[in-house]
Amino acid sequence: MISRNDPCWCGSNLKWKKCHYPEKSPVSLDELRAEYRKKYRIHLKTPEEIQGIKKACKFAAQTLKKLCEMAKEGLTTKAIDEMSRKLCRDAQAIPAALGYGHPPFPGSLCTSLNDVICHGIPDDTQLKSGDILNIDFACILGGYYGDCSAMVTIGKVDEEKELVVDVAYESMMRAIAILKPGVLLYEIGDIIEKYAASKNCSVVDAFVSHGVGLKFHEEPQIAHHYNRDKTPLAEGMIFTIEPMINAGVRHAVIDPDDHWTARTADGKPSAQWEHTVLITKDGYEILTSP
Ligand code: MF3
Ligand code: CO
Repeated sequence: MISRNDPCWCGSNLKWKKCHYPEKSPVSLDELRAEYRKKYRIHLKTPEEIQGIKKACKFAAQTLKKLCEMAKEGLTTKAIDEMSRKLCRDAQAIPAALGYGHPPFPGSLCTSLNDVICHGIPDDTQLKSGDILNIDFACILGGYYGDCSAMVTIGKVDEEKELVVDVAYESMMRAIAILKPGVLLYEIGDIIEKYAASKNCSVVDAFVSHGVGLKFHEEPQIAHHYNRDKTPLAEGMIFTIEPMINAGVRHAVIDPDDHWTARTADGKPSAQWEHTVLITKDGYEILTSP
């Protein structure tokens, strides 16, 4: 948390208590929005935008739930991809991943199995007992973005896999639980890395959480590992929390052929969960609940 004697977040070089301390000088949300844009390039969402983003997030979460439910032994990751395309078509939504980035992402979602950290490309691989799978689905609905992901376990998985799945979920939820205006971004990395380390797991540092809503990836970028980012949260921020947790080393290796698939350097399992959240006046709201 920013404290009374810290420099004010607005960049004035005054102490917070002499500047934008809430009780001293209430700032309107419009003023706050202008300041955040200027100082951090962060867009604090308007009430109208929040309404639209909430709808996109709800659709993303409902779709993700259906995709997770269909992920069973013998199914290919491509079949999950195809189902997401159909669900998008039916709802007049667009899968945000499809064609995203360079080279253009070929899937409409990411399917990341076992040692794949993130950005796995759906293909003809059949799910088998003992697999852990991350399904990461983001959509555009009514021009707004929602982004979420979850893990599915197939049949009986070993202890190491079970551990990363649970630690990744708990890391995400512990980070979300501290969110409110005034919390500094590095506190998110602190809570995730401290928890993961206590379970002998590592935190991937090559990928971050991100602002989302009007675009797929907006400011701020939020690291999941220890860092020094003192940007304070403010009402109207919408971003993801999506820690990637490894059983072994944290390092990621990008596939040299497809330029997307990120695997653990030591081949040990990795897991990730993701929610999109809104910072409210005195806390947070999870937007990607089905
Ligand atoms: N949640 C992931 C992210 O924010 C989704 C990636 S989709 C991809 O990076 F197209 F970039 F792969
Ligand atoms: Co994301």
